[in-house]
Amino acid sequence: MPIFIDGHNMRGISPTDLEKIVNSPKDNFGITHLEVFYNESEDKLYCVLDAPDEESVWKHHESFGLKCEFITSVKQIKTAKDLKEEKFQILGEFASQLSHDLRNPLSIIKNSVDMMSIKYKDKLNADIFENFAKMDRSVIRMNMLISDVLNYARTQSLILEKYSISEIIQASLEGIKIPDGIKLVIPEHDFSLKCDGTKLQVVFYNLITNAIQSIGENNSGEIHILCMKKDDIIQIDVQNSGPPIPDEVLPKIFEPLFTTKDHGTGLGLPSCKNIIEQHHGIIRVKNNPTTFTILLPKDVEKLSSITV
Ligand SMILES: Nc1ncnc2c1ncn2[C@@H]1O[C@H](COP(=O)(O)OP(=O)(O)OP(=O)(O)O)[C@@H](O)[C@H]1O
Ligand SMILES: [Mg+2]
Repeated sequence: MPIFIDGHNMRGISPTDLEKIVNSPKDNFGITHLEVFYNESEDKLYCVLDAPDEESVWKHHESFGLKCEFITSVKQIKTAKDLKEEKFQILGEFASQLSHDLRNPLSIIKNSVDMMSIKYKDKLNADIFENFAKMDRSVIRMNMLISDVLNYARTQSLILEKYSISEIIQASLEGIKIPDGIKLVIPEHDFSLKCDGTKLQVVFYNLITNAIQSIGENNSGEIHILCMKKDDIIQIDVQNSGPPIPDEVLPKIFEPLFTTKDHGTGLGLPSCKNIIEQHHGIIRVKNNPTTFTILLPKDVEKLSSITV
C-alpha cells in the first residue's frame, strides 16, 4: 500500500476544519491511517497517510473542501532504524574494501619483521628483540581489527577444516601479550571440531583481549578458559576475575560500535557473535564471575541450530 505525504498552506484552514480531518473516519476512500503534522515556521500542514493511490488522497481532501499544494508518493517512509541499518551497511562496505586493501601491505610488514628477527637472531640484544616482538603483535592486532570489520560486514563465508580447540586458542595467543600479573589458564580438555579456525581465532583473540582489559594490564587477576563437550556440542567458557559488567552495559555489549573504552572500536563482540552464528552456534554472557560462554556444534555442516 503506497504512503503519501502532502503539504498545504494553513491559511484558510480553521481549527474546526483541521479537527474534522484528524477525526474523520480513516477508511474514507481507502485511507487506513492518517497523521497530521503542523510546521509552525512554514505555516504548513503535512499529512502522512496510507492510501491505495493518489486519486483517493485528492478525493479525501476535497471532501473537506481542502486543496493540497502537492502530493508526493514515497515507496516507503524510512524509520530511524532503517536509516541506521542503511548507514551501517554503507559503512560496512566501505570499511571492508579498505580493510581488504590493507591486508597486503600488512603482510609485507609482518614477513619483513619475521625475516629480520630470524636473520639477526644471534646479533640482536634482548631489548631490540622485544621491539621486534612488539611490532609483530601490533601487526597481528591490526589484522584482528581488519577481521572484526570484515566479520562484522559478513563478507566472507566459512572455510571449514578440522581443528582442535587448543590449537585455535594457541594461535590466537600469538598476537596477545599476557601481562605479568595476569594468570591465564587454558583448558585441560581438548576437543576437535569442524570449523573455520582463522575466524574462531579472532573470537578468542577478542574475548581474551577484553578479559585482560577488564582486569587491567597493570593489575593482577586470572583468566580461565574451560572447555567441555556434551553430545555433539562443544562449550567453551572464557572467565575473568575483573569487575562485573555493569547492568546498564550488559544488554548493549553485542551492539555494533558500542564501546566503553577510549580507544575501542566496539566491533570486537559483534564480530564474535557473527562468527559464532555463522557456525550455527550461540554466544552469551553472564556476571559473577564475568563469563562468555560459546556453544558450537562439533560439525557445523551436520547441525543447523543449537537449542538450549
Ligand atoms: N570481559 C569483559 N568484562 C567487562 N566488560 C566487557 C568485557 N568484554 C566486553 N566488555 C564490554 O563490552 C564492550 C564492547 O566490547 P567489544 O569487544 O565489542 O569492543 P571494545 O572492546 O570496546 O573495543 P575493541 O574490541 O575494538 O578494542 C566493551 O567496551 C566493554 O564495556
Ligand atoms: Mg574488545
